[in-house]
Amino acid sequence: MEYNVARGTRDILFKEKRRFKLVEEVIRSVAETYGFNMIETPMFEHTELFARSVGESSDIVNKEMYTFNDKANRSITLRPEGTAGAIRAFVTNKLYSSPDMPVKLMYDGSVFRYERPQAGRFRQFRQFGFEEIGARSPYVDVELIMMVKAILETLGFEGLKIKINTIGDTESRNNYSKVLREHFGAHIDTLCEDCRRRLETNPLRILDCKVDVNHEAIKNAPKIKDYLTEASREYFAKTLELLDSLDVKYEIDESLVRGLDYYNDVVFEIHQEDNKYGALGAGGRYDSLVKEVGGPDLPAVGMAFGVDRLVMIMEEEGMFEDENDVSVDVFVMPMNENMNAKALATAEVLRSIGLIVDIDLSNRSFKSQFKSALRKGAQAAVIIGEEELNNNALVLKNIETATQETIKEEELVAKIQEIVSL
Ligand code: HAM
Repeated sequence: MEYNVARGTRDILFKEKRRFKLVEEVIRSVAETYGFNMIETPMFEHTELFARSVGESSDIVNKEMYTFNDKANRSITLRPEGTAGAIRAFVTNKLYSSPDMPVKLMYDGSVFRYERPQAGRFRQFRQFGFEEIGARSPYVDVELIMMVKAILETLGFEGLKIKINTIGDTESRNNYSKVLREHFGAHIDTLCEDCRRRLETNPLRILDCKVDVNHEAIKNAPKIKDYLTEASREYFAKTLELLDSLDVKYEIDESLVRGLDYYNDVVFEIHQEDNKYGALGAGGRYDSLVKEVGGPDLPAVGMAFGVDRLVMIMEEEGMFEDENDVSVDVFVMPMNENMNAKALATAEVLRSIGLIVDIDLSNRSFKSQFKSALRKGAQAAVIIGEEELNNNALVLKNIETATQETIKEEELVAKIQEIVSL
């Protein structure tokens, strides 16, 4: 019986896994210069947490969660995103009692959504997210957007678009929802099944409908900007003014509403020019969530990158230095089983000076071993034969120059350092 990976999931092998790590490393190190610190939260939480935070009216909670009852019959859900767990952790660990607000935390890890798989869309994927809790100010939102820009530039991206919008505060949204209900109510027969439900639960979601993106009623819908409270209007205007003054390029997208319920005011997404895989990252302000999950009334803002999409685009655009799937510095080749112990000891010496060393202990032919050394990109091969063993000697082969010499064991480290660039 052969098993396949579950739909929407995939194995990430050697080179690609290294690339994921590299990208996450760059993200972390740039974010550290902005004062963010890493946390890790559980991969599953009580279902109720996501229902309350991500929201009952969102597609994620309605259709996309991996939910099951554990053996004690509690409803558990694999996290469909990182914010809910991060904010739960902030509350559980009473991080709000810190005298140093705002608290800036970041995390990476796998998240799970039962979505229809397509290019760049998986059912298990990695997010790298940031949450900044305890401050409400356009300056803070703009600093986060500047960090996003700095991270993407450090990774080597050029020409990405930051789309930005406001969805207003609760009062703005209540006013707007009322108007949208009237507007879409007149077109109810032409709406998809989901949107008919959304008309009741959260009419803003209709603007994000993926079924009929050219629906006239959606295109002609009233705009949130005409229903903003004074406070929300000012907040957004100040944010844009700051972005302009700091020379951060953006594009206002009035259809940007985001698929999670916890947002208010400023929301944004990062897109590549041809928009092949959807957003590369997204976020916004969420001033009610901390209270919603049982903490004090603290405002917050955050965002998350989709790491899979970043890696995919970087691979396509040749932004990684080319390397082998498996790459070593030195390959140690014992010529028969009697030399294996000597080979092991030799490899240890080379590893202790920081080299990546592979060794063939199955005693294949010289030719097969040497072919492996070449495939693995070794710069040097150390050959241990019967005669050498008896004389405390080794054969050192410089693969690039295709030359070799017999050397004394104690010369190995010095000689190999002449060949291998550390
Ligand atoms: P989100 O927009 O749902 O936001 O996801 C963030 C990013 O995850 C997306 O921009 C995209 O790059 C990636 N992503 C989403 N779904 C998939 C998928 N099925 N396959 C591959 N990548 C995907 C959030 O999750 C919020 N928690 C972000 C946030 C943090 N807001 C405030 N703080």
